[in-house]
Amino acid sequence: MFRLDGKRAFITGAGRGLGRAIAAGLAERGARVAIGELPERLSDAESAARELGGVAVPLDVRQIASAQTAIAQVLEALGGIDILVNNAGVNRPQDALDVTEEAWDAVLDTDLKGVFFTAQAAARQMRQRGGRIVNIASQNGVVGFPKRAAYCSAKAGVINLTRLLALEWAPYRILVNAVAPTFIETELTAVTLSDPALRDEILSRIPLGHLGTPDDVAAAVIFLASDEARMVTGHTLLVDGGWVAR
Ligand SMILES: NC(=O)c1ccc[n+]([C@@H]2O[C@H](COP(=O)([O-])OP(=O)(O)OC[C@H]3O[C@@H](n4cnc5c(N)ncnc54)[C@H](O)[C@@H]3O)[C@@H](O)[C@H]2O)c1
Repeated sequence: MFRLDGKRAFITGAGRGLGRAIAAGLAERGARVAIGELPERLSDAESAARELGGVAVPLDVRQIASAQTAIAQVLEALGGIDILVNNAGVNRPQDALDVTEEAWDAVLDTDLKGVFFTAQAAARQMRQRGGRIVNIASQNGVVGFPKRAAYCSAKAGVINLTRLLALEWAPYRILVNAVAPTFIETELTAVTLSDPALRDEILSRIPLGHLGTPDDVAAAVIFLASDEARMVTGHTLLVDGGWVAR
């Protein structure tokens, strides 16, 4: 079960962090992977691609044309696309009273607009044969967390966008789901988790008592990308150690 042999997967923002672990997990299950990454971090994507036997593709999800070009490059390199993982994301923690238009746009452009237009470009290629789209949302799209006005808004948007796309694209057999992780140690969360008081507060809110790992997220993505998840669409799979169950 959960094999992905012969599948071609594109993972955005996969030069490091969760994306890299997701790419490794998909490759380990037999998929051929394309790693999308910002041009200034393309060397990270190239090293991931070398390690996983895949290809690296420059990508800035904030630019619709870049997403479209990247999908075309994936088609050229892999001969098709069966799985898209919309993983690229940023956060700019700020008190709601201080959020600037620039910070709001930076987060929404990457975390919501980028997810939609990358999905659109991929779905235009998938609609003949079907496919899988997995959006990396966050538990912070389900619950509020201080200093994350833009991030919580974007991730909540991703969760409902996931439902809408699942409905619209079901006739094409494109299944659209999301994974919503709790806090996981990556460069994105380094500042938050290095504050001992905040780290303790976060741990106290996770009933299982520990942070998630990149492999926990990769496992959820592998399931949603697999044939075994063929009846699952429009769903958001929380990987949150029970945070939202409280
Ligand atoms: N780490 C966590 O605790 C956590 C929890 C819930 C959700 N998430 C989500 O998981 C995803 C990955 O997060 P991470 O922790 O690995 O972060 P990270 O910062 O380590 O990695 C994010 C990657 O996305 C890339 N990226 C950023 N902007 C991009 C753009 N415009 N175009 C293409 N690539 C871009 C970055 O270069 C980087 O490689 C994000 O969507 C994040 O919101 C993370």
